[in-house]
Amino acid sequence: MDVAREYIKNIDKIAPCPEVALDVLSIAHESDCSIPKLAEKIEQDPGLTANMLQMANSAYFGHIKKITSIRDIIVRLGLETVKIIAITSASVGLLNTPQKGYALGRGELWHHSYGVATLANIIGRYAKVRDNAAIYTAALLHDVGKIILDRPLQLESYNRDNQNPPLTMIERERNLLHTDHAEVGMALLEKWGLPESICVPVGLHHDMSQPRAKRLGVKIVHLADFLAHITEYDPEKPEDMFFDALAYEDHKENLPEVPHFEKNMRLIIDEYIDKFTETVSVFEL
Ligand SMILES: [Fe+2]
Ligand SMILES: [Fe+2]
Repeated sequence: MDVAREYIKNIDKIAPCPEVALDVLSIAHESDCSIPKLAEKIEQDPGLTANMLQMANSAYFGHIKKITSIRDIIVRLGLETVKIIAITSASVGLLNTPQKGYALGRGELWHHSYGVATLANIIGRYAKVRDNAAIYTAALLHDVGKIILDRPLQLESYNRDNQNPPLTMIERERNLLHTDHAEVGMALLEKWGLPESICVPVGLHHDMSQPRAKRLGVKIVHLADFLAHITEYDPEKPEDMFFDALAYEDHKENLPEVPHFEKNMRLIIDEYIDKFTETVSVFEL
């Protein structure tokens, strides 16, 4: 963990999180989240306001009357939905950047993160979790550590990456940097002051052997991450989005048990594909 903290020391230079976005994240996760305070904060950022209005007016929410203000969004869509739209809009700038060290082009980390978040939210609803917005945020930010480790990984790989046989991504990070993106992501979110219900699933999403990984939030993020990886998406051909049911059957034994998931899997995947393809491009302004 100390190595992870070293990497985020100069975080403001590597991945500046716009202050408004961070405040929105914190206000949205306060237990007594105030609607006027949240609306006021969002309105301070014109880009975030525009994103939220476009999202709220998208086909997915199917409103006939046009939504024209943040307060309108909160009243018409409800606080939970608003939190989720605000958190997504606030994070897209950070997640949209290319990560060469991980062979991820522009937008790829964002597509993956938004996919995992959308899935986690649907799985969480079926599992009847209490704080689904926290699970959504954890899922959205689960790979945020890659943004921090991208450059160090590129440098170290250049110097001494000659592994035979090929390593998993986590093994490669551990080998070269003595930490991994899950640990660094958790250290970053702790530094940003986000609650444990968000930080822990991020920190453990690749390490299900730890006692704290028995928490439902960790299980959901891990499961959603796996499902997003086996659901292929090509931004050029969104209509061809495809869930690899065979890959699921092959790995099912290793996946954590989440209440009501297995018997509703088909419904969950169908809802995910619909929602993802209809909303993903809204945020890419
Ligand atoms: Fe990851
Ligand atoms: Fe991931």
